[in-house]
Amino acid sequence: MATYIVLLGPPGVGKGTQAKILAKQIGLVHISTGDLFRENIKNQTELGQLSQRYINKGQLVPDDVTIGMLKERISRSDCELGAVMDGFPRTLKQAEAFKIILDSMGDDVSIVPYIKASDKVLIERLSGRWTCRKNGHIFHSVFKPPQEEGICDKDGSELYQRDDDTVETAKKRLKVYVERTSPLIAYYKNQGILVEVQGEQAIEALAKDILAIVKK
Ligand code: AP5
Repeated sequence: MATYIVLLGPPGVGKGTQAKILAKQIGLVHISTGDLFRENIKNQTELGQLSQRYINKGQLVPDDVTIGMLKERISRSDCELGAVMDGFPRTLKQAEAFKIILDSMGDDVSIVPYIKASDKVLIERLSGRWTCRKNGHIFHSVFKPPQEEGICDKDGSELYQRDDDTVETAKKRLKVYVERTSPLIAYYKNQGILVEVQGEQAIEALAKDILAIVKK
């Protein structure tokens, strides 16, 4: 049976940062629907053009589009052992569709670490984020600065600020999170697989907590 871990939490709480660390530690692939959309935007695909309209306004991309994209991604051979999910599911409809997809493969979500932080911390993290153009490595001007300003430590590519990381769009994304994504807390709690994690701690300490939850 494969292992599917869903990292749940608001925008900017550190899902991408932690998903990369965890996936490496436990040898699973990291799937970020945000990264998949951004790759499509970069390559100017039809999906990229469609998703950009929603992302830049801080809105969610429609469920049917997102679920279709995820279904294709998960069918690839590198997901045979499972995956660390970052940014998916994000609505009840997506969670239900995900359950059906995994069911058809004889699998289910194993555990849902739910990372929490205050809005103040989230805005601080989002507005200082720098992302690498080549592989999506994540930095922060204060909390995780690159060795050389504007350059990714890992692959030497340029660092950029995401269009949806303005304070105004970040606030909109937080509102959308409360309305559309936070119902997933009760959804997974009712299944007995949600575990809360304190997100207002340093990256390494948080990674330790998440690993302990997953190993349990
Ligand atoms: P997505 O890319 O998934 O954005 P998000 O969920 O809003 O999450 P973020 O990537 O903004 O934050 P994060 O929690 O990953 O934090 P990070 O590790 O980067 O989605 C973007 C858009 O795509 C959505 O708005 C939507 O339009 C669309 N989309 C994506 N998935 C979708 C779906 N399923 N359905 C519909 N639409 C979808 O960290 C943030 C910053 O904080 C970084 O600078 C980092 O260095 C720093 N940091 C991280 N951890 C710590 C720490 N512990 N201490 C200090 N600093 C930290």
